[in-house]
Amino acid sequence: MKHVIPAFKYSKNKNEIKILDICFGLGFNVLATLHYATLKNIHQKIYIYSPELDSELVSSLNNFTYPKEFTIFEHIIKALLEEGIYDDATFHIELFLGDAREYIQKFSENTFDIVYQDAFSPDANPSLWTKEYFKDIQKIMKEDGILTTYSIALATRIALYENEFLVYLNEGKDFRASTLASLSNIEELSEVNVEHKMKCNPQRTSLRD
Ligand SMILES: C[S@@+](CC[C@H](N)C(=O)[O-])C[C@H]1O[C@@H](n2cnc3c(N)ncnc32)[C@H](O)[C@@H]1O
Repeated sequence: MKHVIPAFKYSKNKNEIKILDICFGLGFNVLATLHYATLKNIHQKIYIYSPELDSELVSSLNNFTYPKEFTIFEHIIKALLEEGIYDDATFHIELFLGDAREYIQKFSENTFDIVYQDAFSPDANPSLWTKEYFKDIQKIMKEDGILTTYSIALATRIALYENEFLVYLNEGKDFRASTLASLSNIEELSEVNVEHKMKCNPQRTSLRD
């Protein structure tokens, strides 16, 4: 919910929404997006691009039992496992088997409205949390795009701040407070004063490649 609710809230006036989902895993973020868009009768065309390194995990999804609200999308998971792509009038989804760092290089500047930053933790999966990684992400995001992540680590927020993102608290009644970042000012959100936090924690830095 921390990803999906802000994604639609801040893309209301767009005809189509382009989402980068880092990374596919069991596909829950993808399915939650489809579920929410269907439930709320959202008519914008939704594009989701999702890399995943673990091909065995992806193969295992053939026999995975999803929660019942996702069963109407099983044909989409099947198409992604077989073809790596699904397209209909409402949804276009691509699953890339490989490294997210390599995958994001193929997109042009100003492509994405939304980034779901849902890699394993910075300790477990450092290459997807560095200053250089967020630089690549910044380049392919639109000026009014938003990035959402569960990470509230100062190192993550510094890496975003160092790439010109404004860092906000992402709060909602259905999820724990997390982080939302954008290259644009979002008046209604509480901004995290990263510069002040850096002054108070001079030993803390962003992760680097
Ligand atoms: C927390 S899980 C993602 C959960 C997923 N968003 C979901 O909704 O089910 C993190 C995933 O990142 C994948 N991963 C880790 N490093 C990666 C990389 N460099 N490129 C692509 N995928 C990666 C892992 O295999 C794992 O499936």
